[in-house]
Parts: sequence; structure tokens; C-alpha cells
Amino acid sequence: MDHFLYRSGELYAEDVRVADIAATVGAPFYVYSAATLKRHYELFDQALDGTEHLVCYAMKSNSNLAVIKLLGDLGAGMDVVSGGEYRRAIAAGVPGSRIVFSGIGKTREEMTLALKGGIRQFNVESEPEMQALSEIASSLGIDAPITIRVNPDVDAKTHEKIATGKSENKFGIPISRAREVYALAASLPGLNVVGIDVHIGSQLVNLEPFELAYQKVAELTEVLRADGHEIKRLDLGGGLGIPYERSNSAPPLPLDYGDLIKRTVGHLGCEIEIEPGRLISGNAGLLVSEVIYVKSGEDREFLILDAAMNDLIRPAMYGAHHDIVPVVEPAPGEEPAKYDIVGPVCESGDTFAKERVMPSMKAGELVAFRSAGAYGAVMASEYNSRPLIPEVLVQGDHFGVIRPRPTFDEMLNRDTIPSWL
Ligand code: LLP
Repeated sequence: MDHFLYRSGELYAEDVRVADIAATVGAPFYVYSAATLKRHYELFDQALDGTEHLVCYAMKSNSNLAVIKLLGDLGAGMDVVSGGEYRRAIAAGVPGSRIVFSGIGKTREEMTLALKGGIRQFNVESEPEMQALSEIASSLGIDAPITIRVNPDVDAKTHEKIATGKSENKFGIPISRAREVYALAASLPGLNVVGIDVHIGSQLVNLEPFELAYQKVAELTEVLRADGHEIKRLDLGGGLGIPYERSNSAPPLPLDYGDLIKRTVGHLGCEIEIEPGRLISGNAGLLVSEVIYVKSGEDREFLILDAAMNDLIRPAMYGAHHDIVPVVEPAPGEEPAKYDIVGPVCESGDTFAKERVMPSMKAGELVAFRSAGAYGAVMASEYNSRPLIPEVLVQGDHFGVIRPRPTFDEMLNRDTIPSWL
């Protein structure tokens, strides 16, 4: 559920007319709903009620400082994957004790930053990374709290580019080698083993792969404890999917996911961490765009928008579906049209949807891409020298620009021409 609803035929973000935001900031732009972000965070928090837990929002899905501050103020932890994300979390007021650091290629600089600034745990993904962390922590005289990410070799049954839990993927250490790697961790100075980490992929639309993975983690917990390791925390990753195509998908709810967690690992008495990103931010955002032209091709109509693949790359990159709706609903009884919906970028991959049936549109009218709050703005680029588009946050009846559109001068001034040229 989100807070983007029609009232008297006009699309609202909470209590603000989307068209009013467009009139102020200009299209295209992203708009997020504070109430939806809050609601989705709370759904996860409540789903783990009765178990000691921390919901660590996966910042990679949407790392605007305002979004992080909103969630951090509710008590959320953060899952970061770079020094940049770590700095954002700290800048938004999240204490290091609520930040977990994931990722397969943490540099020594990033480790130092987090050790000095405070960190809840590093999710270590390889032996060389563990060695590096041990050296750095020892030299700083700090014990680095760690979990080790295991790769359970489970098929997440999602898009191949976002599946991470199969043995052929680059993530984690093979679960079959876990005992030996935990033994190494226990033998190294400067490391304090606190638990196990797993994350099998993103946009999972059924619970079975989670169940298989968490059962393996539960078995491993018993084995490692018998080996003498203190396993007090389980980080179970993120990945719960959202209904991109509202008309025909209904992924499991956080409550079902919480029940599954309690059923598979609840008996172990561990503190539970989860790292949801998409389910918190995805349906909390729209990408709003204006129709530039309606163009007739040989055998089809093209709806040419002012947003492009550089603003929202998911359709081009993953063939992802986003519902695209008019900001003003058509009059009842109006015939729908069929469009290839495209952006202005100079490649055919800049296509958001093919043969999409939707209300008939005219140049100058606005459309909204639903489910664009996650992996939208954060994956944007300035390809074709198109400045990054603004981000807006709505709360109740007011809105604020949380990232302004840069001017063309700002964009150009980031380049420098060497004096010898
Ligand atoms: N934890 C780890 C270690 C992750 O790698 C990810 C996502 C998450 C948590 C959060 O997963 P979520 O709950 O958001 O599914 N750009 C792609 C998605 C990439 C996901 C990468 N890792 C997309 O647009 O679909």
C-alpha cells in the first residue's frame, strides 16, 4: 500500500497534488511519500515483534539524506556498502552502533573510516578481506565486530542480475567452507565474531528460497556454536519483492516473512537483523515525467517522455516493468491507447515499455511511473548530458525539494580543461 492515490481524477502524493509539485519544480522529478516510507519500515519492525531485532534499511535502494534521516529517526539501522553510504548514514544522524557494513570489496580506507567512526558489524565476504580487517583493527587497537557472509547455494528465483545466493555468484564464502573460515576468524587478532550473515538476492516474490537459506543458516549456527564460536546475531539480508505490476502480482507480506524467520531461526535465541531496501523505498516513490511528443511510427505510436533511461535505468537494464499512469485520470468511457513509451536518449534501449495499453495522452501532459522509489534516483546518471533530476519528499500537505536539479553550469563546471590543452 502507498499514499499515491487519485482524488477527483487527479493523482496526489499524500495530500499534495502531483501536478502542483510539477508546476513548482518542473518535470521530470522523483517524489517520495514520508508516510509510505514510515509505514513500510514499521511493517518490518512489527513483523519481528517479540524477537530482539534491528531493521537495517539497505541504503543502496534510496540514499537521499532526507530518506535516511526519516528512517533513522524511527529507529532504523542502516546497511551500507561503501564509504560514501557510511558517510551519508552518519550525516543523517544514524549512530555507528546501528550501521552494518556489507559488500565484497571494502577497501582499507573504508574499513578505517568505519572503525574510527563506529560500526555495529562488518559483514565479511572473503578471507583476504578478513585478513585486511584484522590488520587494520589491530593497528587501531580496536576489535572489529564481524559476521561472515555465507553463500548458501540457493536459487533465489529472481532476475539473474540480482540473484546473489548461488555458488556461481561472487558473494559470500561457500557455506561448505564456513567452519574453516570461522576457525580462521577466531585465530586472527582484532576480530570479534558476533554472528552469521546471508543475503540471497533481490525482488524475491516467493518465500521458499528464504526458507531454504535460513534453514541452512540455522543448521550452521548449531555447528559453529559446537565449534566454540559465539553466534549471537543473524543478519538475514534483504530481498523481499514488491508488486511492480499491480494488476497481477501479490508478493508475500513482511508479516509472512517475519513468521518465516521466527519459524526457521527463532529457536536459536539470536538477535535478528534484516536488510530490506526495495520494500521500504520502492512503492514510496514515483517518477513524474511530461510527454514531449506523441509520434506516429510505421505500425505504432511512440510516447516520447522527458524522462529517460539515465533517470530510471531499470527497464533498460533488467527489462523491468513499471506501471505508468496518467497524473490526470481520463474521462470515463474514453478509449485507451497503446504506446511504446520511450525517452529522448539516443539509443533504442531507452524504452520504458512496449505496447503499453494506457489512457490516451497528449504532449504537455504528465505521467507517473509507480514503484520508482528504489533503485531509481540512486542509479541515475548524466548520460547524454542530462542533469540529474530533482527529488522531492512529501509529508502530509507539504513538500520539500530534497535534492535540487543542478544547473547546466554546475554540471559543466565539474569538468576541467587542463591548462596544456
Ligand atoms: N543486503 C544486501 C547485501 C544487498 O546486496 C541488497 C541488494 C539488499 C540488502 C537489499 O535488497 P532489497 O531488499 O532492496 O531487495 N538495482 C537492482 C537491485 C539490486 C539489489 C542489490 N542488493 C534493481 O533495480 O532491481
